Amino acid sequence: MSVAKKEYKRVTVKSLSEMKENGEKISMLTAYDYSMANIVDGAGIDVILVGDSASNVMAGHETTLPITLDQMIYHASSVIRAVKRALVVVDLPFGSYQSDPKEALRSAIRIMKESGAHGVKIEGGKEIKESVKKILHAGIPVMGHLGLTPQSIYKFGSYTVRAKEEEEAEKLVEDAILLEKMGCFAIVLEKIPADLARKVAESVSIPVIGIGAGNGVDGQVLVLHDLLGMTYEFNPRFLRRYMNLYEDMTKAISQYVDDVKSRDFPSDDEQY
Ligand code: KIV
Repeated sequence: MSVAKKEYKRVTVKSLSEMKENGEKISMLTAYDYSMANIVDGAGIDVILVGDSASNVMAGHETTLPITLDQMIYHASSVIRAVKRALVVVDLPFGSYQSDPKEALRSAIRIMKESGAHGVKIEGGKEIKESVKKILHAGIPVMGHLGLTPQSIYKFGSYTVRAKEEEEAEKLVEDAILLEKMGCFAIVLEKIPADLARKVAESVSIPVIGIGAGNGVDGQVLVLHDLLGMTYEFNPRFLRRYMNLYEDMTKAISQYVDDVKSRDFPSDDEQY
């Protein structure tokens, strides 16, 4: 069933709540730089996530752990300069909030002040409760992130589906309810069974946005480079590729190399 889309000049946390209420699905994608954010925003995305997946797709690290707060602020500032409509949410990177709530607040304030972002995302539930409260008390919108939380990859040991066992599933539902109670405006659920994700979306009134969490949630998020087919070696079941940019870019660049070598480029028309 598709639902009539309400026009939003600027998407706010309130718009997202209205979308859930009206049954309109929320679209969310990552972006890390000005040029991509300009295209993503212009195409009508609701939420842009400056994800710490920048650590993988922009910097080539194996995990999200190495990216720093300064680097996240750099990416977020570039995105903010491009965006006219979308809500921009920025990941609190690993090490910027775990040690104590005051540090978590300082990190969130730096993101908001130095990049101009509209909110932050933070991984975890009950164990980071005090940090979430502190950030929320400062008036900063917080998006939660449960399920597969990549900053804990060394605790999990692999990127397989989370919360398949009852105990972990129960904790996840409790964490989602806690995040809502504290005042988070939305929750990302990553790589969990679709039935559980649907149950979470029905148990809370804030929007639940899934990645590898099925179709019963209130919106979907993907990493932009995956959707565009730039990360050709990454093939999880949940990923739908809309382009094969890796191949198209390789072809275009090889053609340019050939054209330079053969002196075809620049032509008479392409010089002064
Ligand atoms: O960093 C990121 O891109 C994310 C999404 C996978 C939700 O957290």
